[in-house]
Amino acid sequence: MLRPHDFKLCDRFGTPVPEGEEFWLQIYADYTANIEKDYDLEATSFEDKYANTDCIKDFDIISGGRGHPEMLTHEVIDGITYLKMCNRYMRPSENSINYIPEAFYDCMAELERVYSECRNDDMFWAEFRSFYPFIGRPTPLHAADRLTEAWGGARVYLKREDLCHTGSHKLNNALGQLLVAKRLGRSRIIAETGTGQHGVATAAICAKLGLQCVIYMGSRDMQRQKLNVQRIQMLGAQVVPVTSGSCALKDAVSEAMRDFVGNMETTYYLVGSAVGSHPLPTMVRDFQRVIGCETKEQMLALTGKLPDAVVACVGRGSSAIGMFHPFIADADVRLVGARAAGASIVSNEQPATAAAALGTPGVLHGARTLLLQDARGQILEPDSVASGMNYPGIGPEHAWLHSTGRAEYYSVTDLQALEGFHMLARLEGIIPALETAHAVFQAKRLAQELGTDKQIVICISSCGDKDVDRVAQLAH
Ligand SMILES: Cc1ncc(COP(=O)(O)O)c(C=O)c1O
Repeated sequence: MLRPHDFKLCDRFGTPVPEGEEFWLQIYADYTANIEKDYDLEATSFEDKYANTDCIKDFDIISGGRGHPEMLTHEVIDGITYLKMCNRYMRPSENSINYIPEAFYDCMAELERVYSECRNDDMFWAEFRSFYPFIGRPTPLHAADRLTEAWGGARVYLKREDLCHTGSHKLNNALGQLLVAKRLGRSRIIAETGTGQHGVATAAICAKLGLQCVIYMGSRDMQRQKLNVQRIQMLGAQVVPVTSGSCALKDAVSEAMRDFVGNMETTYYLVGSAVGSHPLPTMVRDFQRVIGCETKEQMLALTGKLPDAVVACVGRGSSAIGMFHPFIADADVRLVGARAAGASIVSNEQPATAAAALGTPGVLHGARTLLLQDARGQILEPDSVASGMNYPGIGPEHAWLHSTGRAEYYSVTDLQALEGFHMLARLEGIIPALETAHAVFQAKRLAQELGTDKQIVICISSCGDKDVDRVAQLAH
């Protein structure tokens, strides 16, 4: 029988957690039941022992979820009993940390099982790659000489995801998840969209594979992104206007989830970015990793070395995690994300802090991550000129990269994004999406900070045809 003072914490490999080291500890209801049963230990006494120590960054006991039993076991080392937790720094997207209602559980568990089969199946990836000619992969990577000259700093390269079929990186993920949906035997596909790019990508791949497709889109975004609404409809999908909340991306996600809960037997919810409950962020990341993998190979072939930094915009974070992930182990490559600060005033010389860009820990749409919220946990609505950046949170793996300091995140205002938009158009002949323009502006700051003997890659996530009218209106 164990009492709180009888044990110490260690990670799942048996390494004791050093005093003062920070980590997130999250325990599901079933774990707490196990704690009480197996260890005769009440969750509250567990909390008493650790909640106020410096080493626990965050402590949650969550009801309604379930997890892997191996996340909590015990081992006796040199006469001391260690309670073994999962990783010291839990990687939320890889540890089944789901904040979901019971109604979702079986469906998410089935998805996790089927996706894990797909992930380990060479045939699955061969089928994924067989669509590369349809997408237009590999996408080009090339030097941006006039930007480099204008900024007077690091040499700049562009990874051209805007040249993917349908105009953005979104098709990589839509394709991958559709192949998973096929294995699950689902015939109706639903998705949410902010800018319409994920809607267009999903509608296109559904048309190609002959599946029914319904897209949820905030009514405000439908006004702003009329071109994409028409494209989705021309591809044979239905667009459902969402008029709840702020009529934007967050509300479209909520509405798609409601549809999904009611139609799980027949429907697959094809989430548009690396957010939500496990395994969704992991899946989306895996399908977008192609961006970073190609960038690595192309930079080595073109320049003989890896870039000193890669830069991407972070709406919810799918293009950014796809670019960052293959570089995580390359410690000399800086991973830099650009978040939208909307109309707030930040001087060009002074990058805003990550805290302002990312928010604080909270739960939204089935995952614990960093969120814009008030002191009582009420979600704050971002208000960016770019619809795809108007989501109050980031994917949980970005929250983890931020907490470990491996990736850096900066705020970019609407005006700065517009500057990035015009710079790329006039100096490189590429009209980017307003979302992408945030990364262009952040790249300018970074290029100037790094100096001339360095090289950086900007992920040009999307083409800007959808934003031409809006930018023209803003100019007046
Ligand atoms: C055109 C475009 N670019 C970029 C983004 C940012 O998305 P994420 O950060 O999820 O890649 C979006 C999101 O909807 C988008 O539509």
